Amino acid sequence: MKPIIAGNWKMNKDPGESRSLVQTLMGLVGDVKDREIIVIPPFTSLPIVAELVRNSSIKLGAQNMHWERSGAFTGEISGLFLLALGCEYVVIGHSERRHVMGETDEVLNKKLKTALDIGLISIFCVGETEKEREQGRTEEVISRQLTNGLKDIENEVHKMILAYEPVWAIGTGKTATPQQAADVHTFIRGQLKKQSSILYGGSVKPENVDTLMVEKEINGVLVGGASLKPESFARIVKYSQ
Ligand code: PGA
Repeated sequence: MKPIIAGNWKMNKDPGESRSLVQTLMGLVGDVKDREIIVIPPFTSLPIVAELVRNSSIKLGAQNMHWERSGAFTGEISGLFLLALGCEYVVIGHSERRHVMGETDEVLNKKLKTALDIGLISIFCVGETEKEREQGRTEEVISRQLTNGLKDIENEVHKMILAYEPVWAIGTGKTATPQQAADVHTFIRGQLKKQSSILYGGSVKPENVDTLMVEKEINGVLVGGASLKPESFARIVKYSQ
């Protein structure tokens, strides 16, 4: 399986800015064949980015979706709309959705089921807060997130991607050490019924990607801030082994 390098732009880049970011990025990584590159723009930029990356090696993902296919859910987006635009991936359970928008394990489980049903590949995020880590509860928290999130779909986890994103490392500049990340990845792998790629996310930068990717347990990275600059994201894509 190719290592996966995914860039989550969060609520950044309007359509015009998205166009120039992707155009520059394509010039920098258009020739990379041995890595799966995924860009995850905000919803409003999906159409323009979809058009630009069509027929390229860059894949498209969305940051969220609703669990229903359609209906009276003002302000929400159906996974079917994402598919229609050319998205192959959708992030489910990002810590900002869990902790800022209040999404529960139960809600995430519904979203994961719908994504499976309609054929979107979920990038399912799990991770502990700083307090939970200090209290020695990292494994307990992740185990709960996995058990509840994957309820009734444990046997289909090979159709998803997992992402370990310690909340204390997201946007803080504090990266988990390669060993800390590898330990949790090993734990996660032990909890899964089937094989799945497990990405690390949390302050991944050009300066630390090489050492993280040395760990064989780390199958790729989910990048936030450093994916907003084409040069730094390209450097992460081209990490050296
Ligand atoms: P960061 O975000 O790279 O800015 O820490 C990672 C993420 O939230 O996916």
